[in-house]
Amino acid sequence: MKKKTIFQSLILSCLLSFSCHTLLAQNHVNGQLWPDTDGNHINAHGGNIIQYQNLYYWYGENRPNRGGSTETGIAVYSSPDLKNWSNHGIALATSMEEGHDIEKGCIMERPKVVYNEKTKKFVMLFHLELKGRGYEAARVAFAESDTPKGPFRFIRSLRIHAGKWPFNMKKKEIEAAQETDASLWKDWWTPEWRKEVEKGMYLWRDMEGGQMSRDMTVYIDSDGKAYHITSSQENLTLLISELTDDYLDYTGKYTTALPGGQNEAPCIFKNGDTYWLICSGCTGWAPNEARMFSAKSIWGPWTQHPSPFVGNASNNQPANKTFGAQGTYIYHMNSTPVMMLDIWNPQHLSKSMHLWLPIQFDAQGIPVIKWQDEIPVK
Ligand code: DGJ
Repeated sequence: MKKKTIFQSLILSCLLSFSCHTLLAQNHVNGQLWPDTDGNHINAHGGNIIQYQNLYYWYGENRPNRGGSTETGIAVYSSPDLKNWSNHGIALATSMEEGHDIEKGCIMERPKVVYNEKTKKFVMLFHLELKGRGYEAARVAFAESDTPKGPFRFIRSLRIHAGKWPFNMKKKEIEAAQETDASLWKDWWTPEWRKEVEKGMYLWRDMEGGQMSRDMTVYIDSDGKAYHITSSQENLTLLISELTDDYLDYTGKYTTALPGGQNEAPCIFKNGDTYWLICSGCTGWAPNEARMFSAKSIWGPWTQHPSPFVGNASNNQPANKTFGAQGTYIYHMNSTPVMMLDIWNPQHLSKSMHLWLPIQFDAQGIPVIKWQDEIPVK
């Protein structure tokens, strides 16, 4: 009799735990723990999603419970429906080799994976900080794989555009930048300092060794051309750069955007013939008000609009703090643009929450983002 009771309660608890996982996976609420198919919170942050052969792949930073450096690498999950995600482990692993660019303990952030139709390869770009050097290295890294789940092969990391000026900078502007001297400016944020930044003071400072590259995204335009958009010049100015056809290098064509604007976490999409760029400000892990810009060409000029985030959130975080989140990517679900954001938990980065919100348009065609509890799924 006793044996039967133990057996029955075992069955019952198995059933309960199975239905709990299923229920949690099915009723995932924005901003709360999001269990994968094993029941663990999805540990893929600052990343992106691609669709390949009837499955979605989600790449992101696999964060340890404590600390800000990368122990394992870049995670990959797959899903048939954008809701139920299976963990496939680490797509690009840190190296155990001392001195390697991606040695365990480095910082790998904001990975973006894109599929190259011509080479049939999956290409990953990410922000890399070298082990033990905080955020001073400010490099971009490239990796490649034959399959979406990896393993990705690390190719190289670099500071970008060494010795090259933006393609649209005129001779006179280059000469003005060459007259600046960043070492003279100890006090930031004065009107005089700002003028020097706009002239290209940090572009000139880093001309020889290459430009800084931190928060970043990759955008594939409708003609298949790829662009790398990154926070550069001490996070003050964005660089927009064209990638080669294999997505593994720069063509050399690049421009600066929004000098001195302190835009981080760039996310971009196109609606009709308008490019929309949604960024965050620069306040570490703490949320701030999003900024939105539009342009008719990827090369700008960019026009600023108010933040697209409006209304109330059920996590009580205001729209002017981006509902407590920071953007990472905009993917299209059918034809709806959906913004992926992270609600960072700096004490336990692995427990940072996910927030996915559809982008709607007002009567003037301007993007609007409202809180909704349900994640947008097919
Ligand atoms: C803000 C960036 O957007 C994040 O990716 C990360 O680098 C944090 N800063 C670190 O403070």
